[in-house]
Order: sequence, then C-alpha cells, then structure tokens
Amino acid sequence: DDLDLGGYRHYMYKEIQEQPECLERMIRGRLDDRFGVSRLDGLNLTPRDLRGFARVKILGCGSAYYAGQIGATMIEDLARVPADAEAASEFRYRNPIIEADTLYIAVSQSGETADTAFAVEEVKRKGGRVVGLVNVVGSTIARACDGGLYLHAGPEIAVASTKALTNMAVGFAMIALALGRVRDLSNADGQRIVAALRALPKQVAAIVEAEARIAEHAKICADARSLFFIGRVRGFPVAREGAQKFKEISYRHAEAYQTSELKHGPLALIDEELPTVAIVPSDDLADRNLAAMQQIKARKGQVLAITHDDVDFGDLDVPRFVVPRSEPELDPILLTIPLQLLAYHAALILGHDIDKPRNLAKSVTVE
Ligand code: AGP
Repeated sequence: DDLDLGGYRHYMYKEIQEQPECLERMIRGRLDDRFGVSRLDGLNLTPRDLRGFARVKILGCGSAYYAGQIGATMIEDLARVPADAEAASEFRYRNPIIEADTLYIAVSQSGETADTAFAVEEVKRKGGRVVGLVNVVGSTIARACDGGLYLHAGPEIAVASTKALTNMAVGFAMIALALGRVRDLSNADGQRIVAALRALPKQVAAIVEAEARIAEHAKICADARSLFFIGRVRGFPVAREGAQKFKEISYRHAEAYQTSELKHGPLALIDEELPTVAIVPSDDLADRNLAAMQQIKARKGQVLAITHDDVDFGDLDVPRFVVPRSEPELDPILLTIPLQLLAYHAALILGHDIDKPRNLAKSVTVE
C-alpha cells in the first residue's frame, strides 16, 4: 500500500534508491579482506567441492538471466572456469546434458518462477549440484536448491526488477571470488575485488544522485519508436538488461546488440529516428566502441554513451553519462544503474503505469 511507498511516487523509483543499502546487506559478513575471498557458507560447498567444478551453468529468466550473463563473465574472468548462462525457460525443454562436475546456479528474485523451478528439478533429477541466488527467503527455488545465497534486497514490488538484479550481480562476483581463490586468483587480486565490492554502495549512491543528468536524455528515448542498446563482452549483458528494462515499462521497441555485430546487419536500420545507447567502459575495447559510435553518427543516428571519465572521445561529439569506475570485472554492476533511471524517466514522460506494466506479472508462476 501507499505506506510502503514511504513518500515515493513509484516502487520502482524507491527500489532504485534503496540499492546502496541493499548492497550493504548483500556483502555484510561475506567478505574477507585479509585473504581476498568471500565466505559463502550458505552454498554448502567445501573448498574441495569448489575446486572440483570444471564448468558453471547459470539458469534464470528475463533480467535474472541477464544477471546470469553478467555473472558468467565474472566467473570466467576471475576463476577462469568456463561459465555460461542460459534462459531456464529453454533449458528445461531441451533435454540438457547434466554433468557431475558442473556447478549449476539458479538465479531468481521471487524464487517462484516456474521455468527456473522446473530447470532446478531437471538438474537435480539427473544428479547435478545446484545452488540458488534467490531473494525471497523460503521460496520454492530456494528450498529446492542444495544450498545458496539470499540476495537480501528486501521485498521488490515493481514488476521491473532493479535492486534484486544488482544484488544478483554482486552475488555472482562473490561466487566468482570463491571459485577463483581456490584456483589461480592471487591474494592481491582477491583483495582488489573485495575492496571494489566494498566500494560499490557509495558508487551506486553517487550514480543515483546524478539522476537529473540521465533523465535529460529520457525524452529522446521516449520519443523514439525503436532504440538500440549496444555493448560488447562485459558490456553486452548490460545492454541486454538496459533494453529489457526499457521495453518493459516504456512499451518501446528496444533491442540489444553486440557492438561488434552492428556492421553485420543492424547498421542498416540506423537513421535519425533510431537512437542508440552505447555501453562504453574504459577497457581495451574502448577504441572499437568509439569507432562504432562514429559509424552510427555518420548515418545520422543519435548516440548516448554510458561510459567512464577516462575514455577519450577525441572529437566524437556524443552526449555521455559517466559512471564511477570499479575494477573492470565489476564494472557491469555500475553501468547497469543509469539504464534503470533512463527507463524509469522515459516511462514517466510517457505516463505509463510504471510499477505494473501492461501484460506482465511480477513473477511468472505458470508455464
Ligand atoms: C524483470 O524486470 C522482469 N520483470 C522479469 O524479466 C524477471 O526478471 C523474470 O521474470 C524472472 O523473475 P525472477 O527473478 O523472479 O525469477
């Protein structure tokens, strides 16, 4: 009811604002600064178990699936264990091969998503080991898993997921640390990631406070019939989640592409009427991302870059929203936040029912 809104106009907005404190709860008691590692007792996995996994398979739906894609990259980066995310809604129908040396991770805010719950059952039936990253305590998926981490994001009411997704990404970072530190990840690198995790709440607060600077771009996006969200490698799941959030509450067609794929087809659609939101972190792909933005501009496309302050745009004149830098492996967490605000402000302009968008339910408990 309105009391829970605590003076905010929308749950989605309230939940975006709550993220710094949700992050604090997520990491509390789970990080060890001295040994640069996470302490995840709830997973019920011994160091020997952790060392024994040859692969990681992450299962979730919608935004939880995109959080899983962010997580898979973190696990490959930090632990050098092959990892991928798959839509649980597909996994359950394709007679998947379940391997004893794969760690399965089910990710879900509600813990009640039927597709994800079925996927968990399928893994278990065939002898796989599955842990959960779940927000709702005691939910179906949480109970079905062999162990897990609760997200501690608190109740998420808005259909469009924000704070749960952010905590999912942090959960994956901590699992990546746990897997990495029993393999080749050095103590120094572990400490680097632990320090970066501890810095996240303040950094997220800074982004949320800069809301007005992202809101100024919402009108262009709201006016467009269709938008692209582009990113590559670590930035691609960020783009997918940005497009997802945007289409859920603005009802505008938004599509995510790998920036590298533009020239293989989608570039044909670019003109002055199709704006692009580009994820441009300060990494070794920045130059290639700049070249892609150049190509979009040359075709009269408008671009908004979500970027870091040390990316040199040279004479490329595009509006930018700058987020604080984390460690490169964790940058996707911070790059996602402005996209929540962009979608929120576009939907506000359009006058949509932000918390209960048409055709969608908070959790999909039926097939
Ligand atoms: C997120 O904004 C969506 N409403 C939706 O994609 C959601 O993430 C998905 O249905 C999975 O829900 P869950 O996390 O509760 O399993």
